[in-house]
Amino acid sequence: MENANQILVKTTKNGPYVIKGNFTLDLPTGETKECNGSTFLCQCGNSQNKPFCDESHKKSVIDAANTWF
Ligand code: FES
Repeated sequence: MENANQILVKTTKNGPYVIKGNFTLDLPTGETKECNGSTFLCQCGNSQNKPFCDESHKKSVIDAANTWF
């Protein structure tokens, strides 16, 4: 990334969304979390630590193309 204020969101085929950069994440609980570096957000729905990925996707089969629509 060229700009320190830039955020890069990367999708992975059968894993989490990878967000690189510094940002504030609003959680469903009303709390906020400061995220720095690489943050991995669950897109399979199986994480026990949502919204973060806990690697549970490795035990399940997800088709990322079908989770978008
Ligand atoms: S994408 Fe990793 S646990 Fe859901």
